[in-house]
Amino acid sequence: MYYPEELVEEVRLKNDIVDVISGYVKLQKKGSSHFGLCPFHNEKSPSFSVSRGKQMYYCFGCGAGGNVFTFLMEYENYSFQEALKVLADRAGVELPKLEYSKEAKEKAELKTILLEVNKLAAKYFYVQLKSEQGRAAYTYLKDRKLSDETITAFGLGYSNKYSDDLYRYLKTKGYTDEVLLKAGLISADERHGAYDKFWNRVMFPIMDANNRVIGFGGRVMGDGKPKYLNSPETPVFDKSRNLYGLHRARISRKPYFLICEGYMDVIALHQAGFTNAVASLGTALTEGHAALIKRYVNQVYLTYDSDDAGTRAALRAIPILKSMGITAKVIRMDPYKDPDEFIKNLGAEAFEERIHKAGNGFLFSLKILEQDYDMASPEGRTGFLRAAAGRLAEFEEEIERSNYIEAVAKAYRVNVEELRKLVVKTALQSGMAKPVTRPKATVNKERRKEDGALKSQRILLTWLIEDENIFRQIAGVIGPEDFTEPLYHTVAELLYRQQEEGTMNPAQIMNRFTDEEEHRRVAELFHTRLPEISTAQEKEKALKETVVRIKQNSLDEASKSLDATDMEGLQRLMEGKRALQDMKELHISIN
Ligand code: CTP
Ligand code: MN
Repeated sequence: MYYPEELVEEVRLKNDIVDVISGYVKLQKKGSSHFGLCPFHNEKSPSFSVSRGKQMYYCFGCGAGGNVFTFLMEYENYSFQEALKVLADRAGVELPKLEYSKEAKEKAELKTILLEVNKLAAKYFYVQLKSEQGRAAYTYLKDRKLSDETITAFGLGYSNKYSDDLYRYLKTKGYTDEVLLKAGLISADERHGAYDKFWNRVMFPIMDANNRVIGFGGRVMGDGKPKYLNSPETPVFDKSRNLYGLHRARISRKPYFLICEGYMDVIALHQAGFTNAVASLGTALTEGHAALIKRYVNQVYLTYDSDDAGTRAALRAIPILKSMGITAKVIRMDPYKDPDEFIKNLGAEAFEERIHKAGNGFLFSLKILEQDYDMASPEGRTGFLRAAAGRLAEFEEEIERSNYIEAVAKAYRVNVEELRKLVVKTALQSGMAKPVTRPKATVNKERRKEDGALKSQRILLTWLIEDENIFRQIAGVIGPEDFTEPLYHTVAELLYRQQEEGTMNPAQIMNRFTDEEEHRRVAELFHTRLPEISTAQEKEKALKETVVRIKQNSLDEASKSLDATDMEGLQRLMEGKRALQDMKELHISIN
């Protein structure tokens, strides 16, 4: 299924990273690196660096980094295989035809065919919209204040009143019923045979991040039901991993996305100049969406409908986004229903103002909580503050909790210290009132400990790559086996081997990881944010602590899985423990 390593390496070596990235980003040479404005986040002064020597890039601002393949995967949203193909072409390297398994081949072929059919269908719908039979649909869009430019940019179309014209058209192009069924474009039953899924609707093609049509939404022009009919999930259409408008939002160069509920909201926002708007596809926001968003921005503004359903959707989305490290603010649309209507009535400037006035997601959720209490009575207010304190107690990080306590105190005009006491009291009470939560706390503690150990492993890997001098001193004390996380372990083994052979080359190691998720994790591994350190002395101390922590963790893990009859293992463990003692005396020199 995969190309041989030497071939991948050849492609990498023949595509100088500075040359390739120069095609996308204006770079300037400074010392041994080239610098430019980071294409992965919005910035005014360049913190994106590309090293010709290392054949790696790294952004000091947002932490994006990797080799030439990573860059194309991130920038073009290619899979590893796609990036490889493009770069092989660029360098004139011929890739052999791969021997796919029959199953894999069929799957890949089916996807290609489905994308092809979708594209044809989108074109067909577009032509219908622009022709005589599409006049009503065209008028409908015009009445909704869409410009021709917008209609074209989003590829909007029209599905005719006939029950099978698309079906017949696609049959003349040679596609089988089976393929058309799998594409979700037709339905079939015994009585009627095959017929189109979409009739007499305005069509919204749904594009993935690479501008490929993966599905459709169709709207009735009036009050019919259902208002929107959508393609079913297909091998190319995964609703929980795609966002409407992403293909344009991802190149908007804004540091945040606007997340709304509907197709028309996205389109109206883009038309008004807010090209960073996206919508989930008729489903609630999922973790898959959040992970997708996180690849582009760390912040979002939720601009959900101002009805109850929209509010509930926002309340559900906030913690999902937060768990991915995305901060959410909430934009209010009242007195209008949604962004589309807001813009139509008040215009882009007023919307911009709402963006500036957007409230923090947590405070928004408190605002909603108020509705459960009679805020005019002292009892009601006290009850509300108790509930708010309960939510404040859930912030694990102290600084964050403290910041929110201050914000809430200010917003509800209560004394900060009193609120702080209430939060502590609530936390203790809920801890005691519900002993069931205790085991969960230890699980959390365990997890934090594990996270700490993994972080140390990541930091050390980054350090080893940055400084061969450190590597030489550490290699005797920490071995690949001390990296307990399987992926880190593999990377460490490869690095140590390179180090032995005297050719440190992390960019080459990255070739080994062709699964997108893994590739990204390895890229991160080589660019872990190191602790802020100014003096050599501090660095020595931090390095030593890191090394000790890794060894300690590795010994803990080893003793956990040790069989009591395994004398050899026991011996090794004892040696390890001695080594750990010695290590505490170890002197690492930085120069
Ligand atoms: N939706 C859907 N199926 C429906 C209704 C809605 O898939 N029967 C999805 C669509 O993606 C729609 C979004 O939910 O865009 C929001 O629905 P709604 O607020 O009802 O529609 P609007 O986006 O406001 O659509 P319009 O302005 O065209 O009425
Ligand atoms: Mn609407």
